[in-house]
Amino acid sequence: MIPVNTPAFKGNEKKYLIECIDTGWVSSDGPFVKKFEGSFADYVDRTFGVAVCNGTAAIDVAVRSLNLKPGDEIILPTFTIISCVLEIVRSGIKPVFVDSNLENWNLDVNELRQKITSKTKAILIVHTYSFPCDMDPILEIAKENKLWVIEDSAEMHGQDYKGKKCGSFGDISTFSFYPHKHITTGEGGMILTNNEELNDRCRSLRNLCFNNKRRFVHEELGFNYRMSNLQAAVGLAQLEYLDKTVERKREIGNMYRSLLKTSDNYSILPDKLNYAMNIYWVFGILLNSKQGKDAYMIMEELAKEGIGTRPFFYPLHKQPALASHIDVSQTYDNAETLSKYGFYVPSGLGISNEEVKITANHLNNILTK
Ligand SMILES: Cc1ncc(COP(=O)(O)O)c(C=O)c1O
Repeated sequence: MIPVNTPAFKGNEKKYLIECIDTGWVSSDGPFVKKFEGSFADYVDRTFGVAVCNGTAAIDVAVRSLNLKPGDEIILPTFTIISCVLEIVRSGIKPVFVDSNLENWNLDVNELRQKITSKTKAILIVHTYSFPCDMDPILEIAKENKLWVIEDSAEMHGQDYKGKKCGSFGDISTFSFYPHKHITTGEGGMILTNNEELNDRCRSLRNLCFNNKRRFVHEELGFNYRMSNLQAAVGLAQLEYLDKTVERKREIGNMYRSLLKTSDNYSILPDKLNYAMNIYWVFGILLNSKQGKDAYMIMEELAKEGIGTRPFFYPLHKQPALASHIDVSQTYDNAETLSKYGFYVPSGLGISNEEVKITANHLNNILTK
C-alpha cells in the first residue's frame, strides 16, 4: 500500500525531543514553545506567534479574538474543512458562504464582493491545496468595507503570494501542523498577527483566560488549547528546513505532472499562476463529470491497486451538522463539483520517487481507459 501521506523527520527533531526529556520541560511552559512561536512568526514576517494544540483551535481562537456579536456575519468559502465554521456558529455569528472558482479551487472573489452586507464584519479566506487566494482584490474589498481578514494558511507553510509569505496578509492568520502539513508537530497549530491587542487576547483565550491578578479567577470563558514543549521542539526542528521541504513537494508535484498522460477525463492545476507557484501541498485530481465516474469510484479502483487517496472537502453548505444553522436551500455548483469529482493521491514527504512512478502508472491506466 502506498499511503496518501507519510511524514518525514530529517533534522533536529530527535535532538530537541531528547532535550525536552533531559531537562524535564514537556509542558507549554517549556522554552521550545517561545522559540517556535518567535521563529515561525519571523519566517512569515509577522510580529507575534501564538502556538496552539491544532489548526482548528487556531481558527476558534482567531474568530473569538475579534469580539464579534451574535448576528454579525463572516464570509467564508463553502469548500473547506468544518474547522473554519465551528466557532462562528458556536458564537451565534452567521456564516455566509461563497462558491469556489475552478481555475485555482479557491473562493470566488466576485461572489465574495456581492455577499457583503451591513452586518459583514470579517472575511475568512482559506488558501486551498495548491495556490493562495488572489489576495490583492480580497484585501482591497476588506479595506473598502472595513472588514477583518482571517487568513487560514493551514496548508500553505512556505508558500508565497507575489513574493510575500502566506500567513502575512490577514489581520490574523492561522496554521495547522497536522502530519500531512509541511511542518508537523503531530497535532498543532499557530496564530500569527502584527496586532498587539489581538496577540494578547489570543494568548489569554488559548490559556483558559487566566487572570493576572488572582490565579484561578476567570472573567471570561476561554479554551485550553496550549501546545506542549514536545510538540514545539519538533515544530522548530522542522521549520529549520522548511524551504527544503517546499522544494521536495514541488519536485514530487512536477514528477506527477511529467508522468501523467493528458486526458479529457480529468484536470490538474497548473504549475504556476501569475501570482504564485503551485506548492503541491496535495496533488489533486479533478475528474471531468462527463467521463461517468465520481471520485469515490476511481478511489476504490486505486485502492485495489494499493494506492491510498483522500476525497476533496465536503462543502459546508451541505454539512448535516450545520443544517439547523444555515440556509440549506442555496447551492454552490463549483464547490459541489470539486467535492464530488475531486481527490488527491500520495505525495507526503516520506514518499519515494519510485512510489510516485507506481502511483502515476496506475492513474494513467485507470484514468485514461
Ligand atoms: C484549510 C484547513 N484549515 C484548518 C484545518 C484544521 O487543522 P487541524 O487538523 O490541525 O485541526 C485544516 C486541516 O487539515 C485545513 O486543511
